[in-house]
Amino acid sequence: AATKKYQFDVQVSNVSRLCHAKPIVTVNGQFPGPTIYAREGDRVIINVSNHAQYNMSIHWHGLKQYANGWADGPAYITQCPIQTGSNYVYDFNVTGQRGTLWWHAHILWLRATVYGAIVILPKQGTPYPFPKPDKEHVLVFGEWWHGDVEEIVKQGNAMGLPPNMSDAHTINGKPDTYALEVEQGKIYLLRIANAALNDELFFAVAGHNLTVVEIDAVYTKPFTTSAILIAPGQTTNVLVYANSVPGRYFMAVRPFQDVPIPVDNKTATAILQYKGIPNTVLPSLPQLPSPNDTAYALSYNNKLRSLNTPTSAKCPLESRPEAIVYRWARKESHYENMKGVFTPDFPDKPPRAFNYTGAPLTANLFTSHGTRLSKIAFNSTVELVIQDTNLLSVESHPFHLHGYNFFVVGTGIGNFNPAKDPAKYNLVDPPERNTVGVPTGGWSAIRFRADNPGVWFFHCHLELHTGWGLKTAFVVEDGPGKDQAVRPPPKDLPPC
Ligand code: C2O
Repeated sequence: AATKKYQFDVQVSNVSRLCHAKPIVTVNGQFPGPTIYAREGDRVIINVSNHAQYNMSIHWHGLKQYANGWADGPAYITQCPIQTGSNYVYDFNVTGQRGTLWWHAHILWLRATVYGAIVILPKQGTPYPFPKPDKEHVLVFGEWWHGDVEEIVKQGNAMGLPPNMSDAHTINGKPDTYALEVEQGKIYLLRIANAALNDELFFAVAGHNLTVVEIDAVYTKPFTTSAILIAPGQTTNVLVYANSVPGRYFMAVRPFQDVPIPVDNKTATAILQYKGIPNTVLPSLPQLPSPNDTAYALSYNNKLRSLNTPTSAKCPLESRPEAIVYRWARKESHYENMKGVFTPDFPDKPPRAFNYTGAPLTANLFTSHGTRLSKIAFNSTVELVIQDTNLLSVESHPFHLHGYNFFVVGTGIGNFNPAKDPAKYNLVDPPERNTVGVPTGGWSAIRFRADNPGVWFFHCHLELHTGWGLKTAFVVEDGPGKDQAVRPPPKDLPPC
């Protein structure tokens, strides 16, 4: 195994998109930021030097950080931010994982511009369990605001309103000009990450099908689709066979809007161009599912299956603990003073049962505000049912758990029924991932074994909802073994 070293200079750089120039926070002046390359088993050391006016923290999304939450990155959860003018070294091992993940700022809305991909190759000599691609490309989707994002968020907050929607979606930082050259007959692996702040996205390539082979750095049973759906936080690897008529083809992303009237259908495009085809050939547009095609979304997610049947050591499927139904939890005072702020009494049952998805709005307003966390004994089996509620309106929520992958054993529309739904769980080849798109007006059941000690953030990956308080954390206790306890914090851990 090797040690990979990176220097991340967080700095302000001028960037222009769609004729709007503005200073943005970048890493090393790049937008998107640099891709981190490693192999399974490598040690990765990233020195983050903060030269920007904002305090910073960076999260390596999907990396398990075994017993090493100090390198996980969410501000005020596992570290205080790196102050302007200071630096912090993220030092971690990439153990038992390979595939595409990504990194992003984990404070304020700075991840709007501070993000990049992580590519973890399999161990030397270990082939992919799918046809060997001739070439690999990273595609990171994002959002672009013409104005200053932090200002826009501040204005929204001041008015008690969500901030204005982004002005464009982007592919590798560009709304419409990214181009990728392919050669007839070759196979391409696209490593795709959705770094958008608030939009689940459909993605398609005109004239080409996509073969899904991996999600969230876990291999899947391959299947072919005309379009993928990818929620903020998720990653998806697809194979593209360049076997169409040589030409120019648009690749396009557009939001999946799970509301009756789509409010945001901005499309970002990039071009897949066969070698030797002149730029004068007009590209054709792909067919994307319509923005509110919930049926497509559900059937797409249902096709995701783990390639290898999870072993019982890895997969806590043998017992069904009492379900925890997660609802809106709010942490308001985690800034400043961490001591005495959090309490380990996150309820393991909803405080009161009601018709989550259909009740009139007023019945749903009994949310509790608090700083309550769940404490979990080492190695216990956790089942979590995440239920969408009709608080403001039904909406899908991409829930992300730090420090773990989990198995998505069930999902459904309407209210979770503890007497009936568990019988329908997939305990054979459930998809394993770190971020699950809980369906609109429905629920998802996930399971994991709490074998990674530490404090692990759990939140909706829509930045708007994280800010509003759709977040909590699991405190997983140390295990009995010497290697099962949280490591001592590094000396340079930023002070509060
Ligand atoms: Cu990618 Cu806590 O986030």
